[in-house]
Amino acid sequence: MLPPAFLVCALAAVAHASPHHAHKVFESIASPDGWANLGAAPIDHIIPLRIALPQANFAALEEHLYAVSDPAHERYGAHLSKSEVEALVAPHPDSVSAVDAWLLEHGIPDSACTRSPAGDWVSVRVPVPVAERMLDTTFHVWKHTEDGNEIVRTTRYSLPAHLHAHVELVQPTTLFSRVKARRAEARSVGVQARVHDVRGVVAVARSDGTKLTVDAGCNETVTIACIRQFFNIGDYRASGTNGNQIAVAGYSEEYANAKDQQLFYADQLPEALNTTFKYVLVNGGKNGQDYDSDTYAENSDMQTVLGLAFPATGTYYSTGGEGPWIEDSDTRTDTIAPYGAWLDFALAQEKLPQTISTGYESHEQTIPESYAKRVCAGFAQLGARGTSLLVMSGNGGVGDAEGDPRTQSCWTNDGRHKRQFLPSFPASCPFVTAVGSTVFIPEVAAYSSGGGFSNYWSRPSYQGRAVSEYLTTQLRGTYAGLYNPNGRAYPDVAAQSINFRVALYGQLTAAGGGQQATAAFAGLVSLLNDARLAHGKPPLGFLNPFLYSSGLAVFNDITSGNAPGCGTQGFNATEGWDPITGLGTPDFGKLKDLALAF
Ligand SMILES: *[C@@H]1O[C@H](CO)[C@@H](O)[C@H](O)[C@H]1NC(C)=O
Ligand SMILES: *[C@@H]1O[C@H](CO)[C@@H](O)[C@H](O)[C@H]1NC(C)=O
Ligand SMILES: *[C@@H]1O[C@H](CO)[C@@H](O)[C@H](O)[C@H]1NC(C)=O
Repeated sequence: MLPPAFLVCALAAVAHASPHHAHKVFESIASPDGWANLGAAPIDHIIPLRIALPQANFAALEEHLYAVSDPAHERYGAHLSKSEVEALVAPHPDSVSAVDAWLLEHGIPDSACTRSPAGDWVSVRVPVPVAERMLDTTFHVWKHTEDGNEIVRTTRYSLPAHLHAHVELVQPTTLFSRVKARRAEARSVGVQARVHDVRGVVAVARSDGTKLTVDAGCNETVTIACIRQFFNIGDYRASGTNGNQIAVAGYSEEYANAKDQQLFYADQLPEALNTTFKYVLVNGGKNGQDYDSDTYAENSDMQTVLGLAFPATGTYYSTGGEGPWIEDSDTRTDTIAPYGAWLDFALAQEKLPQTISTGYESHEQTIPESYAKRVCAGFAQLGARGTSLLVMSGNGGVGDAEGDPRTQSCWTNDGRHKRQFLPSFPASCPFVTAVGSTVFIPEVAAYSSGGGFSNYWSRPSYQGRAVSEYLTTQLRGTYAGLYNPNGRAYPDVAAQSINFRVALYGQLTAAGGGQQATAAFAGLVSLLNDARLAHGKPPLGFLNPFLYSSGLAVFNDITSGNAPGCGTQGFNATEGWDPITGLGTPDFGKLKDLALAF
């Protein structure tokens, strides 16, 4: 049902004549791969338009972010408050009035609009004909050729010329991307994880010449105890009373299951039995606890993060798609790039968890650059406020690790159909920490570990030296033309990723993939934050400036393994940073000493 305010604005819109200002094309994309155009959108379909106004002082926000995240800076740890961040991303008053006047021209009063706290996003629900007049475009129904999901989109839209300087993007228009989390390999439900039937311990050589002792069974099944050994966590335990929080951001109709959390605790962390985590629904997200539902997919990341960070407070964010799509009875809610919806929610909170893990990816090229940049700017705001955001580097190597090299996943979608390694978003955003995947003892890069170079963001200075060393001494021109040598390179770090022993659908099973590596690394970061909080220090916040400076020396460099894709052997794990395991795997003891020294 439509809210009353909307009815007023829709009726008014119908009564209004078309705008008098001349429109100019604002954004245009090639016909999207994998989607079929089914014809004009129904006129009673409601489009939840989101209009982004330029963030007037984003450059200043970025400066603050780097200052408070660089251990060598005197302002390290002096994170900004919610209102300080909002003041920096607020739009210029001229942009606000220009957009308001345009909306009013189309019969949309202020009362029909929802604004983000900083005013940098304006949302309004309008029927297709109104959106078409506002954007001088035609909306069509597009159907995904694989799963049949239908969405209403356009490949080109216009704005009055005088508005071009006052609007950064309007969506959903050209956004055809999809969020991927788990692949077949990553959800082996029904395969009973082998219990530690391998006895004894093995010595794991580390790149600094020292050795770690790890249970031999960890080569086959990765338990929380194994992760504690791989990460050299020793007997460190979080306190549970210092306000330390960790969250998992889930999308794509995947849910953390409370019963399975207990089963996991019974199996591996009995002291956590009967404790719960918070479940927060965002943007129509659901709380699917019913094993039988056919739309239900489980997300075990909460088990891994709390397996390490317990008794920190845990939160699972279940974020719905940015729909609504075609709202007939048998079409499932789609899940296209809901990162923005989650960010709206997160940035509106006064207090944020210090550590957040998210195991999802989309091909960067499927997200319009303007939209990806705004989402990435939102991640920068989280960092400026003191949150460490860990994202998965991907499950498909440089393209599609398992896929057919001739499929679309190794080709540009810009109409040129050029063969390319395809970077993943959000890993390619320079304001997140991207986690790659390792496997086995001794640790090698996992064949599925995602990695590469962004086409949207140039290389941030914090990784300049590490990455150029890789390019000049290791890659030396190989794959020229298949990747952007000047782009933000990822992953930043790596962790074990395959055969995690978790509980899914009421049974103990093995699950693996980049999301497990990400959750494990997030658990480690939460323990580091715990140590800092226990010493009265602010949390670590945005990690990369720390990891690539003093942190660099204490990572365990992973130097073998490769992640094939796109008909190539992909990148190799090498000495120093590489685009498959980043700086390597973490050593908690050493990172904690560093983190407590500043
Ligand atoms: C958890 O709750 C169950 C059911 O109330 C109870 O039998 C059990 O003793 C509790 N376990 C712990 C560790 O608190
Ligand atoms: C771990 O498993 C891998 C793959 O099966 C094997 O190559 C390696 O030797 C094993 N490591 C140990 C310590 O057994
Ligand atoms: C990866 O290593 C193999 C074996 O040493 C080598 O032949 C290949 O050229 C390397 N590839 C890249 C991209 O560095």
